[in-house]
Amino acid sequence: MNCLLRTVNSLHSLYNEYKAMVEDFLGSCFCDKSSSYAELLESMRYSLLAGGKRIRPVLTLMFCKAAGGDPKTALPVACAVEMLHTYSLIHDDLPCMDNDDLRRGKPTNHKVFGETIAVLAGDAMQAEAFKAVLSSSLPAEVRAECARILAGAAGENGICGGQYLDMKGEGKPRNSEKLFDMCRRKTASLISAACQMGALAGGADKEQLCAAESYGYDIGLAFQIRDDILDELSTAEELGKPIGSDKREGKTTFMNLLGQDKCEEYLKLLTDRAKDTAARAYPQSDFLIGFADELCVRRS
Ligand code: IPE
Ligand code: IPE
Ligand code: MG
Ligand code: MG
Ligand code: MG
Repeated sequence: MNCLLRTVNSLHSLYNEYKAMVEDFLGSCFCDKSSSYAELLESMRYSLLAGGKRIRPVLTLMFCKAAGGDPKTALPVACAVEMLHTYSLIHDDLPCMDNDDLRRGKPTNHKVFGETIAVLAGDAMQAEAFKAVLSSSLPAEVRAECARILAGAAGENGICGGQYLDMKGEGKPRNSEKLFDMCRRKTASLISAACQMGALAGGADKEQLCAAESYGYDIGLAFQIRDDILDELSTAEELGKPIGSDKREGKTTFMNLLGQDKCEEYLKLLTDRAKDTAARAYPQSDFLIGFADELCVRRS
């Protein structure tokens, strides 16, 4: 029991340490107040620094460490993943997408800056993510591979393809195979990319890279299942975003397709498989295992 508590406490302190590194790096981005488009930069910082959980960049840093690297070297690529994620949230909230008013406990970007600036802030943030990867001090071949992985997670086979399927499916029934496929693209692809980029930056071997990819896909799917559960059962105060958004927009979600018990079953199955994968490939996998468990029961 004491040993378990020690592991949980050190996981929390590592998470806080990595999250602080990420906040620091992101806080230094886009802050030229004298620029002629300062309002665009302000809107980018508004969403970027609004207080997300930072689970994706923390995963990048954790995988870098698990692969034997120095997490500091992976910080720019970790923050690139968070930029890309923030862009996807700004666009996801737009009236033409999920039409939501609250994000990270604050009014959504378009509510504050208007739709034109919100679209441009998202566009710029996506491009800046690639700039952050390509300007990092990692070896050139690692930078190139990280950029390729990030592009794959962002493009037609990743977030954009997944978001297309999500939007086109509104109001239509969907089977679970299609739902898993959509969520693999819209959510799990970026979480998996975060893990792979960290592993690459840390010098992972082929087996460890494959493990990072499949761990990321498994916890990524579990992450969206939990998100769908929370959309029905949590509160806007706790989540920092509206609840009931999926029902209002007529989405097929894991909750309304499978019901809560089956969702909990899948959550456990995916989390257990991710933990096994990490344990087999990485000699020091405690944090990866503990983090998968924490995400499975997260409340926000
Ligand atoms: C929300 O992601 C979007 C989904 C993929 C479900 P997060 O729950 O990680 O949001 P933040 O970054 O903490 O705001
Ligand atoms: C969005 O899924 C995933 C993205 C690619 C942004 P959701 O639409 O369920 O995310 P939330 O609930 O608005 O954060
Ligand atoms: Mg959405
Ligand atoms: Mg949404
Ligand atoms: Mg949701």
